[in-house]
Amino acid sequence: MKAEDVVEVVPTQSWNQKFEREIAERAVAALEEGRVVLFEGLRFVLDPEEERFLSPKIVDNSRKNISFDPATRKLGGTHLTGAERERLAAMLDRFGAVTTRLMQNLAPSYAPYLERARTSFRPVEIDQRPTSARHDDRRLHVDAFPTRPMHGRRILRVFSNIAPDGTPRQWRVGEPFPEFAAKFLPRLRPPLPGSAWFLEMLGLTKGRRSAYDQIMLGLHDQGKLDERYQAEAPRAALELLPGNTWAVFTDQVLHAVLAGRFALEQTFHLPLEAMRRPELAPLSVLERMTGRRLV
Ligand code: SIN
Ligand code: FE
Repeated sequence: MKAEDVVEVVPTQSWNQKFEREIAERAVAALEEGRVVLFEGLRFVLDPEEERFLSPKIVDNSRKNISFDPATRKLGGTHLTGAERERLAAMLDRFGAVTTRLMQNLAPSYAPYLERARTSFRPVEIDQRPTSARHDDRRLHVDAFPTRPMHGRRILRVFSNIAPDGTPRQWRVGEPFPEFAAKFLPRLRPPLPGSAWFLEMLGLTKGRRSAYDQIMLGLHDQGKLDERYQAEAPRAALELLPGNTWAVFTDQVLHAVLAGRFALEQTFHLPLEAMRRPELAPLSVLERMTGRRLV
């Protein structure tokens, strides 16, 4: 696989940029078809007082990332306190605000549906993050979260590399979702009857897992745990340099991060009805493959 086949480059000068219609439509089509949209040259500039956050030491030992929840304004994963903590929360909030505007400008048809979820800051060098195979994002995977049932809604993520020293973020992008799913779907075992209800009752999931969520988690885990797949599956290498921003549907696009530090990331949730081509969404693909409704 070649990087050109999995990336759509959109030269971008400003977070407020209004995109020409043709460029915007091409970018949205690329996203929905499972490519990475690279906003080349779009830099998230830190205030001078924010530069002190460019240190892996601000992350709690057991965590990979610092996260900000815009609904509660809670910051997690750091031991910073007081004014410093507020300052860091404000930086993540600002990243959330500019990426929201960016996506609204790029995809006006998404705008009324776009739900801003968590923002994360990933200061720790990828190689030095504590992980188990299941949590190891160096392995190709599609995103699915054990505590957060999506019921078919999409996960759209916007990343910026803000490393001050030129360190690229090294990504890999794998084969198209239908090909990946066709390999692993036959291997998934059905969940125990009543388990989704049980997890919800114990407060271990936010709402009840649908069959879709069970399958997506299964694909995430089985894909990551398959050593042969990880060694041999097709992939393209992307080198994402500081001063660039990229967007991708991470529930659809197989991805892995091999190296890098200091990235910001904003997650958006998007319902299927917002999509131009809902038939390409993982829910639609999996419903066709299984022959049944999954939500
Ligand atoms: C991931 O979503 O798997 C990690 C991507 C990154 O941190 O660059
Ligand atoms: Fe991921």
